[in-house]
Amino acid sequence: MSPFLLTRTLPEDAVGAELRADVLHGLTRTPKELPPKWFYDERGSELFEEITRLPEYYPTRAEREIIIARAPLVAAATGARTLVELGSGSSEKTRFLIDALLPELDSYVPVDVSESALRGAAEVLIADRPGLHVHALVADFTRGLVLPGTPGPRLVAFLGGTIGNLLPQERAAFLGSVRAMLTPGDSLLLGTDLVKDEETLVAAYDDAAGVTAAFNKNVLSVIDRELGADFDPDDFAHVAVWDAEREWIEMRLRARAEVTVKIPELDLAVQFAAGEEMRTEVSAKFRQDGVRAELAAAQLELTHWWTDTAGRFALSLATAR
Ligand code: AVJ
Repeated sequence: MSPFLLTRTLPEDAVGAELRADVLHGLTRTPKELPPKWFYDERGSELFEEITRLPEYYPTRAEREIIIARAPLVAAATGARTLVELGSGSSEKTRFLIDALLPELDSYVPVDVSESALRGAAEVLIADRPGLHVHALVADFTRGLVLPGTPGPRLVAFLGGTIGNLLPQERAAFLGSVRAMLTPGDSLLLGTDLVKDEETLVAAYDDAAGVTAAFNKNVLSVIDRELGADFDPDDFAHVAVWDAEREWIEMRLRARAEVTVKIPELDLAVQFAAGEEMRTEVSAKFRQDGVRAELAAAQLELTHWWTDTAGRFALSLATAR
């Protein structure tokens, strides 16, 4: 039996149809807004990898520190035989988890919208771990997922702080759909960035080298390429602000002057006033009490809370009740 299987639960054109719907909806409302998932074409994914190596962007390094320190405890506490990873991307930090879960681990189920990322990551993992089954799912993890019938207990991992890209009500729906993948005794491992001083947070999203600015503007290039639009990224400035009340970072693109953008595929012309700001990402920051409460609302009980030594980022382990 081949140790690698790939299942596509996204229709081939689902991505294009959703981009058109998101852009039409987001650019015809007030205030304008675009969902952050459209940053990640090939260039955007490269830019994000570059962000993770910036001196100002601590979350990736902080989470890796926690995973390396705590992977044996995760293995002991969960006894997982199937590891499901949502938004697995390159699976770079996951290998520490997989190696701690072996030899009991039977199957790794990475879930991502990018088939190429899934194939690349699986190739590396399978090469040095004979006997590990990899069943990749090309799917949108924000929707309900049907998991393969691999053995339990299951551990679902959602790392990187990506849950912070969801608004509070989207997080509640998402955690409910995660809980629906689990049976009592199964587990969730969740990465969350933590509330900290404004200066550190803003610097992480507005780095001196301008990589995050390029990442933010990349969404305009995606719309130009996919929908034939004529956005000029130079017409917009990168903005990162801390919303102290809602405890999230917002990335925005601010029109430097009045500009009209044509989007032929949508039969649309969109006008931006000089100085008008369009929200492109929310990145929520968390506290332990809030994480515990959001998990509990989804019938998930927080059992472990681990931070890096500097206390910047947390990894939570929760059990399905
Ligand atoms: C990949 C969603 C965790 O919100 O920090 C990095 C994306 N945006 N810099 C984050 C991101 C700007 C990142 N996540």
